[in-house]
Amino acid sequence: MRERAAARILVAEDNDTLRRVIVQALRETWGSVEEVASGERAIARLSDSGEDAYDVVVTDLRLPGADGLAVLRAAHARDPRTSVLVMTAYGTIDSAVEAMRTGAFDFVQKPFDLEQLELRVGRAVDQRQLLDEVEVLRAERAGRRAAGAIVGRSAALRDAIDLARRVAPTRSTVLITGETGTGKELIAGLIHDASARARGPLVKVNCAALPETLLESELFGHERGSFTGADRLRKGRFEEASGGTLFLDEIGDLSPPIQAKLLRVLQDQEFHRLGGTRVLRTDARIVTATNGDLEAQVRAGAFREDLYFRLNVIRLHLPALREREDDVVDLAHHFLGALCEALERPIRGFTEAALTRLRSHPWPGNVRELHNTIERAVLTCEASRIGPADLSFARASGASLESAWRPALPPPGWTLRDVERALVIEALQRAGYVQKEACKLLGVSRRKLNYMIQRMGITHDSWRRNRSPGRGGDPPLRTP
Ligand SMILES: Nc1ncnc2c1ncn2[C@@H]1O[C@H](COP(=O)(O)OP(=O)(O)OP(=O)(O)O)[C@@H](O)[C@H]1O
Ligand SMILES: [Mg+2]
Repeated sequence: MRERAAARILVAEDNDTLRRVIVQALRETWGSVEEVASGERAIARLSDSGEDAYDVVVTDLRLPGADGLAVLRAAHARDPRTSVLVMTAYGTIDSAVEAMRTGAFDFVQKPFDLEQLELRVGRAVDQRQLLDEVEVLRAERAGRRAAGAIVGRSAALRDAIDLARRVAPTRSTVLITGETGTGKELIAGLIHDASARARGPLVKVNCAALPETLLESELFGHERGSFTGADRLRKGRFEEASGGTLFLDEIGDLSPPIQAKLLRVLQDQEFHRLGGTRVLRTDARIVTATNGDLEAQVRAGAFREDLYFRLNVIRLHLPALREREDDVVDLAHHFLGALCEALERPIRGFTEAALTRLRSHPWPGNVRELHNTIERAVLTCEASRIGPADLSFARASGASLESAWRPALPPPGWTLRDVERALVIEALQRAGYVQKEACKLLGVSRRKLNYMIQRMGITHDSWRRNRSPGRGGDPPLRTP
């Protein structure tokens, strides 16, 4: 007996004596051999073969119920990597050719001796196992390629990448946390690329970008006529992501009804389209991300705890850039190289002073902000190296500014106008009532500030003392 890795084999043959002989012989080598006496049973067995499909199917071509070609197709429908070996009657070479064209791995003509059959089954098992190895290697290579694009050597980042690689092949739900711009979407891409689902779709949905009803139809789809304007059936993202990965970004923004529906998909892998009754299934792997504090949302009753536990099976945290000083320098050089090439600018590097400045900046917008800072520097720098003067941190990007400052809602009874007035006064106070400075703090033009001051009836002594009234462009004077 040869040493063999375990393999799962199904034998379909209606002649009882022959079947028993075959099964007994194959069992000696491969252990797990199952048998059926008709085509129908073979197909039924294949379709509920559970998590692991059969590695090899040995089937007679002429079978009661359904013929060997139907068995072959059913095996490939279940898993195209299953090797199918077809047994044909003597003198029916045409049907053997047809089986090969349909995708059989090999055939044997009856009568055959057992050794001949075992040899072919051995090759079929090897082929199947080779396909597995190819898949693993391909996934590893894709993982390396994707990780190659993730720059940084800090231990915190490397740990996150390692964890992402380790969980990639599983179907576990992953929750990625971290401030804005830390690379959550990038790592979600790595999880997809390093999994066997890499050939399937990676579908991304930003849960904060759409109002509740639109998001519901985006995720779950809708039947025709399910609401005004739904003039066509639309497949949802869950359906689209089947066989691949569904990345739900800004998961903390889901409304309670959608949280409930999502919980159901995670529990039973079942859902239905808006306005539909048919239960649909998806096998999409779910990866979610948030830059908020989901635990705090759970405590505040804004996020379902049961859903949180389902999403938080594997937790992957990306540390803020200010906690990874080494990465700042690596990333800065990486972006500089890429941007110089893209923008065709001949800049060779950074001065020491510029690097010090980059290291000490707190990076509220994280990697995205760093990228934008380098981009501006590349565009403005006139020397061969970027110096500290080329680095401006004021306006990183819309997103990072938002995250750097989280506005609080006003107390009950306040109007937006009240808030506006309070902000103008705050800015003026901080600017020592120098209007030019207050404009910068508020991000408005001089004229606009002037107009607001007038409308709001704000005055200050210094304006009266230093300026003569009525001179163009200067502050409005209003005596209380
Ligand atoms: N380690 C890294 N190496 C290279 N590029 C990175 C790295 N981390 C982030 N980036 C880049 O920074 C930008 C922001 O990353 P990403 O969109 O993944 O952040 P995010 O955490 O999803 O942010 P948000 O919460 O705002 O959605 C992207 O252009 C991404 O490619
Ligand atoms: Mg993101």
